[in-house]
Amino acid sequence: MKYDLKKHTEQLGPVAVTIETIADLDQAINKLCDGVDDKAAEAVFVEDLCPYFGVVWPAARAVSEHVARMGEWLKGKTVLELGCGLALPSLVAAKLGAKVTATDFHPEVPDFLARNVGHNALTDANLVYKNYDWRKDESLGTFDFVVGSDILYEASHPKDVAKALAAHCTRGSHIILGDPGRVYLQSCIDALVALGFRSDMFIKEVPDTHSDRAGDKKTQEVFVFTLQKR
Ligand SMILES: C[S@@+](CC[C@H](N)C(=O)[O-])C[C@H]1O[C@@H](n2cnc3c(N)ncnc32)[C@H](O)[C@@H]1O
Repeated sequence: MKYDLKKHTEQLGPVAVTIETIADLDQAINKLCDGVDDKAAEAVFVEDLCPYFGVVWPAARAVSEHVARMGEWLKGKTVLELGCGLALPSLVAAKLGAKVTATDFHPEVPDFLARNVGHNALTDANLVYKNYDWRKDESLGTFDFVVGSDILYEASHPKDVAKALAAHCTRGSHIILGDPGRVYLQSCIDALVALGFRSDMFIKEVPDTHSDRAGDKKTQEVFVFTLQKR
């Protein structure tokens, strides 16, 4: 494994999840940039390879807590996660008995997910991984819940993510989207409403453990949108 890792337990409402993460995201990004010469940078869109997947973002905690509070009711329901990274909401849903498909486009996500599935005594029967790039018109079918956390951080994301979220919903499906209030959030919600979704929102304050970018502040407010296909 090319990263330094650390392992901790996240308590999401009544559900505890053990999770292995990249120990220091900034260090991992610096390492990646050092290793890429100008020629390689032309060939690959380096941003795509940034290991943003490797830490638990506050939005994932907020979505996971919301999922955890659904409890036994989630048993047997189908759940799809887009841009899952370490897939905390997927791990919580799988622990509650849902049939979960976690997706991302980063080539290193499956290794991390396999380790974290193991740490939580889950198997492929609970949670499967599929490589899925929301920029491509590809369908994985429809699901009871389609979830995503902190997946709106580039200008192209609102349009592509709204389309991908909607493409996996049928009448009655729910979307759960967590975001720390990035500038692209509202246009994604507007796009989903225009596609026929009813939208509700609440704000949740959660620990922000990996980042010191907010100075002394050790929590982050997350906007959690729940949307239902009419
Ligand atoms: C900020 S991280 C959030 C990870 C995780 N959802 C969380 O909240 O902890 C953004 C994630 O979106 C994924 N991602 C970015 N662009 C993507 C795309 N076009 N298709 C699928 N996943 C993508 C990244 O690989 C990364 O895992």
